[in-house]
Amino acid sequence: MDRTTITGGTPLRGEVQIGGAKNAALPILASTILGGGECVITNVPRVVDVVTMGKLLGILGAKVHHEGNRAVINAEVITSTQAPYDLVKTMRASVLVLGPLLARWGEATVSMPGGCAIGSRPVNLHLAGLAKMGADVSMEHGYIRAKAKRLTGAQIYCDTPTVTGTENLMMAASLAQGTTVIENAAKEPEIVDLANFLMKRGARIDGAGSDVITIEGVRELQRSDHDVIPDRIEAGTYLVAGAITRGAVTLNRCRPNHMDALLMKLREAGVEIQVEKEQIHLNAGSPLKGIDIRTLPYPGFPTDMQAQMVALMTSAEGTSVITETVFESRFMHVEELRRMGADIKVEGNRAVVTGPSRLAGAPVMASDLRASAGLVLAGLAAEGTTEILRVYHLDRGYERMEEKLRGLGATITRHKEGTAPADIH
Ligand code: UD1
Repeated sequence: MDRTTITGGTPLRGEVQIGGAKNAALPILASTILGGGECVITNVPRVVDVVTMGKLLGILGAKVHHEGNRAVINAEVITSTQAPYDLVKTMRASVLVLGPLLARWGEATVSMPGGCAIGSRPVNLHLAGLAKMGADVSMEHGYIRAKAKRLTGAQIYCDTPTVTGTENLMMAASLAQGTTVIENAAKEPEIVDLANFLMKRGARIDGAGSDVITIEGVRELQRSDHDVIPDRIEAGTYLVAGAITRGAVTLNRCRPNHMDALLMKLREAGVEIQVEKEQIHLNAGSPLKGIDIRTLPYPGFPTDMQAQMVALMTSAEGTSVITETVFESRFMHVEELRRMGADIKVEGNRAVVTGPSRLAGAPVMASDLRASAGLVLAGLAAEGTTEILRVYHLDRGYERMEEKLRGLGATITRHKEGTAPADIH
């Protein structure tokens, strides 16, 4: 298993290019199953989760060609409607093929995603929505089986806003007979990006980005090309890298308007930020102060930036209370940060960080994608060398992270040692 070593203490300076959003690319790639012919998707991040989605589409019989940040996919004809356990267990977002398979081919068998490091993560709302659209949904031997001759439009209310759930239902409803209304829908920019791609292909969708999405089903979709939106979480991670090292970084090719909550919180902590249309300049020369953060569905503060902000708050003066409301056990990074000298107490779903702490490099273990990012950031700020084990988690969502950080002046090295285990989420 690869490990990464970081020698901290250097203020990061320079420019970094932000890649395409993993969480937009995944549903966009899955949606090619809805048919229409060859689609060319650009700005696709070359991360392990995207490669996994490509493999899954290949198993289903689609033609997938991935070159650099461009993916050419033709899922006009597929040969299987089954997403096997071996792939789903490595990536929960595999469940995104459920809605498109069912809507286009009348059936889908998708391995039930298990629990993962950040919580139980059920898919009950995906299934309830599809059932409301007339699907016959059952559970057999660890697999979700769904069948429907043709889905019918329905009024669906989500008990909690779910990102992939909203995406699954929006894709399924695009080919259903009649009108579907998804209430209390998730509003993330990645949902809007998927809706834009579907609409280019002839889907009739209104309200994506708000909490009520109306989809008027059509008989078929056409082909289209699409450029994936920039990754707001990757962008946020590099901003925190600049802030935690008290450096000055510029992000290129990002969408600041997708990052309001984070930008406001960084400013509140004392970071100087200037925003242009597709650029963010950060300057973190002066001491930072502790702030409180509460994760929420978009446009609230993203849970995917929580670990990074916990790391940052260890370097700020005073007490910060970080409340996680989206996932139940997303503080796996805290124990590791403590081993580096952080003063953090976890009380239920709140982490209370008292700073500033002088972090010291240590061997630490990555537990999930964003927790790993939090540890990298801590390592960049720490005195001495941090060794991050199980670093394959990072590869699921960050493209060339070490290279990009080195471009900003970080001392960070990946040590290649064997292959990653196959049971990651
Ligand atoms: C997506 C993102 C992930 C991000 C998360 C929250 C992708 C591929 N992944 O994950 O990076 O951290 O949104 O922003 O886009 N829930 C239910 N029943 C369901 C579905 C969800 O109770 O059927 C709950 C979950 O347990 C969680 C909350 O809803 O507490 C939000 O989860 P959800 O938005 O579904 O997360 P994902 O789509 O899995």
